Amino acid sequence: MANDDDIQRTIAPTAAPEDEPVDLALRPRGFAEYVGQEKVKANLLVFTEAAKRRGEPLDHLLFAGPPGLGKTSLAHIVAEEMGVRLHVTAGPALEKKGDLAGVLTSLEPGDLLFIDEIHRLSTSVEEYLYPAMEDFRLDVVIGDGPHARSMTLPLPRFTLVGATTRSGLLSSPLRDRFGYVARLDFYSPAELQLIVQRAAVRLKTILDTEGAEEIGRRARGTPRVANRLMRRLRDFAEVLGDGRITHAIAIEGLQALGVDDAGFDDMDRRLLLMIIDRFDGGPVGLDTLAASVGEESHTVEDVYEPYLLKEAFLKRTPRGRMATSRAYRQLGRTLPTDHSRLL
Ligand SMILES: Nc1ncnc2c1ncn2[C@@H]1O[C@H](COP(=O)(O)OP(=O)(O)O)[C@@H](O)[C@H]1O
Ligand SMILES: [Mg+2]
Repeated sequence: MANDDDIQRTIAPTAAPEDEPVDLALRPRGFAEYVGQEKVKANLLVFTEAAKRRGEPLDHLLFAGPPGLGKTSLAHIVAEEMGVRLHVTAGPALEKKGDLAGVLTSLEPGDLLFIDEIHRLSTSVEEYLYPAMEDFRLDVVIGDGPHARSMTLPLPRFTLVGATTRSGLLSSPLRDRFGYVARLDFYSPAELQLIVQRAAVRLKTILDTEGAEEIGRRARGTPRVANRLMRRLRDFAEVLGDGRITHAIAIEGLQALGVDDAGFDDMDRRLLLMIIDRFDGGPVGLDTLAASVGEESHTVEDVYEPYLLKEAFLKRTPRGRMATSRAYRQLGRTLPTDHSRLL
């Protein structure tokens, strides 16, 4: 049986350091390889086509959704589609106005600037970004003390692509400056099956249809999780079998990895069992719940809850989080008689 750390790494939808080269190798190239999110893809195709015909840069774009659903991949695809360079940075890396000024002044006309975790920009850096987004100019102060003077620096027309797991945390002035907000949704089991089947081809691994189906069902609706499960199962296939990920290998490996038939990982189970066993099914406040499982509130809210809410295992009520009857059933707990009254 794998220990807690292994399970955490296997199923966590956020990228682990060892994912990076593989994320890169498995990243879809072009809209045709990007599975699902049909509405978003169709809109982005229209916007890129129209911008290209007019010979103008794209409007600023915001990609919102839980980790691992394809925000970074989409930014790369849009840059390729437009035939422009993509500069990649992240909210926490832009600590000071000068950091942002450095990035902005290095842009060429039409370039895409990708700011990951854009909800983590400080207020002062965020406000510094507004005129850059709106009027393509930057106000800079040169020198200091009595000789300091401010001047306006023109910037090339560029496209900002922001990504966030928490669009709710974005200030409305920032949100309003994006021409289009794409909200990415969890993927269906069939879409995830297709994603791992393509990933297996790229990794030169034989993956049976039933094995792929099993991964698709248990990947928490998340492509990054699906691809990671497939890679782990490849290890089981090599050691326990002939290298092929068959249905039997998939079942055995997933069980060893602690991934159950709902795709729950260790933390999903701990969260729901905490609500059920310790807080009588809820309601329990987010901070209390997070502290009880030893996680940060924002991690519980951004990383774990979206899937549990989407699959109706968890409910947000004005008085706090509640486990649903579906959660009781999945975890083999008996539903209290007054449960439906509370929910
Ligand atoms: N729509 C998709 N089609 C195929 N593979 C995808 C898709 N979305 C994500 N992936 C896979 O999942 C990995 C993680 O996606 P990424 O774009 O890094 O997610 P995010 O930036 O939202 O955390 C990618 O490297 C790719 O292998
Ligand atoms: Mg990303």
